[in-house]
Amino acid sequence: MKTLGILGSLRKDSLNRKLLNAVVKLAPEGMEVEIYDRLGKFPIFNDDLTHNPPEVVKEFKQKVRGVDALLFVSPEYNYSIPGGLKNAIDWGSRPPRDNCFDGKPAAIMGVAGRLGGTMRMQYHLRQVMVTLNMYPINKELFVREGALKFDAAGTLRDEPTRKAVEEELAALKVWTEKLSKQ
Ligand SMILES: Cc1cc2nc3c(=O)[nH]c(=O)nc-3n(C[C@H](O)[C@H](O)[C@H](O)COP(=O)(O)O)c2cc1C
Repeated sequence: MKTLGILGSLRKDSLNRKLLNAVVKLAPEGMEVEIYDRLGKFPIFNDDLTHNPPEVVKEFKQKVRGVDALLFVSPEYNYSIPGGLKNAIDWGSRPPRDNCFDGKPAAIMGVAGRLGGTMRMQYHLRQVMVTLNMYPINKELFVREGALKFDAAGTLRDEPTRKAVEEELAALKVWTEKLSKQ
């Protein structure tokens, strides 16, 4: 099962990148997670260009279509979805009959420096998933106080968080298998 792990942060030392690196290692047998960390390459969305999008958008849509499931791993910015991630989602959703997210099983996780653990970002992203007809799992993972969860080398050391990551990935796998049988 191929899963695209879409990273919502552009920061080199991103906590969410560290979380996504942990995801790659903790994925259950039979699930392979590829990291997508190119959101910084996207120009600002312009609906005049949707019928002739930039190369990076074409590649992104192809990648999304080529996987069985999506995993969004993102920080929360100002109580919502980071602009770079929302921008890429807008590109991927257009033109109207070419929404690359249509029918995709998906999961969301995120790590924040603070106590909210990206909760508000995740609920905004779920709202976006409705209009794009993604199928998110009803399992949530909010990683709070992120700086405390990783060691100096960036490895996820917090045992409850590691377990929660494994459980979320296992749930995404089961959900994706279920949907593929429809
Ligand atoms: C523009 C901006 C807005 C932020 N807004 C929030 C917020 O609303 N809630 C929150 O928990 N953290 C917020 N933060 C702090 C992030 O949780 C923190 O910077 C986190 O490390 C970002 O993820 P990253 O390490 O993957 O880049 C914000 C950070 C930035 C740069």
